[in-house]
Amino acid sequence: MTETGNRRYLLRSRPSGRVTVENFTVVSEALPELGEGEALVRVLYLSIDPTNRIWMTDMEQYMPPVALGDVMRGAGIGTVTASRSSRYPVGAIVSGLLGWQEYALVREGDPAAPGLLPPHLPVSLSAMLGVCGLTGVTAYFGLLDIGKPKPGDTVVVSAAAGAVGSIVGQIAKIEGCRAVGIAGGTAKCAWLLELGFDAAIDYKAPDWREALAAATPAGIDVYFENVGGEIGAAAFERLAMHARVVLCGFIANYNDGARADTNLTPLLMKRARAEGFIVSDYGPRWNEAVRALAGWVAAGKLLHRETIVDGLDRCVDALNMLFDGANTGKVVVKVAER
Ligand SMILES: NC(=O)c1ccc[n+]([C@@H]2O[C@H](COP(=O)([O-])OP(=O)(O)OC[C@H]3O[C@@H](n4cnc5c(N)ncnc54)[C@H](OP(=O)(O)O)[C@@H]3O)[C@@H](O)[C@H]2O)c1
Repeated sequence: MTETGNRRYLLRSRPSGRVTVENFTVVSEALPELGEGEALVRVLYLSIDPTNRIWMTDMEQYMPPVALGDVMRGAGIGTVTASRSSRYPVGAIVSGLLGWQEYALVREGDPAAPGLLPPHLPVSLSAMLGVCGLTGVTAYFGLLDIGKPKPGDTVVVSAAAGAVGSIVGQIAKIEGCRAVGIAGGTAKCAWLLELGFDAAIDYKAPDWREALAAATPAGIDVYFENVGGEIGAAAFERLAMHARVVLCGFIANYNDGARADTNLTPLLMKRARAEGFIVSDYGPRWNEAVRALAGWVAAGKLLHRETIVDGLDRCVDALNMLFDGANTGKVVVKVAER
């Protein structure tokens, strides 16, 4: 970081397959002069999310794709370092779409302007992007609002040792359900059992389909879909009568643009329902989720892990970790010290 310059990652080309640094132009620009109502935010942490990969494409999506030449979109947390805005006093901590850059210019009144975080946070700054941020809120509303679990239900979640999945399984347990996680590798599966999951299926083991069947003898009442592909297809085959499928994400398809090829027949035969959701639609109820999540963290009922990657220049590596399964829990990039 420089005192006067702002290092920024501008999207140069739309990736095909894995994201590379060649997809970006890295520039160092002078810090902008502030106009009335504007503030300068130093980015502290960036949230690294599978949706970053989607935003880099021009596929149909829930927000406009990042335009070529624009700074890469990314959620983050930062601190106000200069201000001509009464809404954003110097020293305030903000959370929002700050972008892959060292400093973000924010304008009060802009519909996309970041929100202010309260002075006393229930968890660390980085965890305000994870368990008490976008990740936790996704797990909360996806499971409770869309999945509608009932005590005794069998809840299965894919990418279970990831940011969203690890929270989904623990909320399922809090709700009195049986939680089954699907994840890659024995270490991740061992961690899921430590978290209180009733069973963990290692989809890299040759007999994982049999293990999924054994762990769901009465079928799956709620399937929380994070992955798609073969894992999603196998879960659909085990749906119970009147099951609910929460369509949260299809990470197996993001790098190659493949379409989900899940056989929908089990939905019909089991009179089941599948529903997609986008967490930002829950903006008006955001604080309800954060309060509940923070309460469970404080009570020791909700554990979380982070994979913290150091330095703005590691954003591409950090994003690829999600597709390599190199992360456990939430991935954040630390851009600067508070
Ligand atoms: N709808 C919404 O509003 C919303 C909001 C946030 C996130 N999401 C979605 O939620 C899902 C999880 O996001 P996250 O941020 O929590 O990421 P994450 O689960 O922390 O990281 C992604 C994980 O996915 C697994 N994975 C990657 N490629 C895979 C493949 N080809 N097959 C099987 N597993 C694969 C890897 O775990 P393994 O080592 O176990 O393979 C990896 O650790 C994503 O689909 C994301 O798009 C949706």
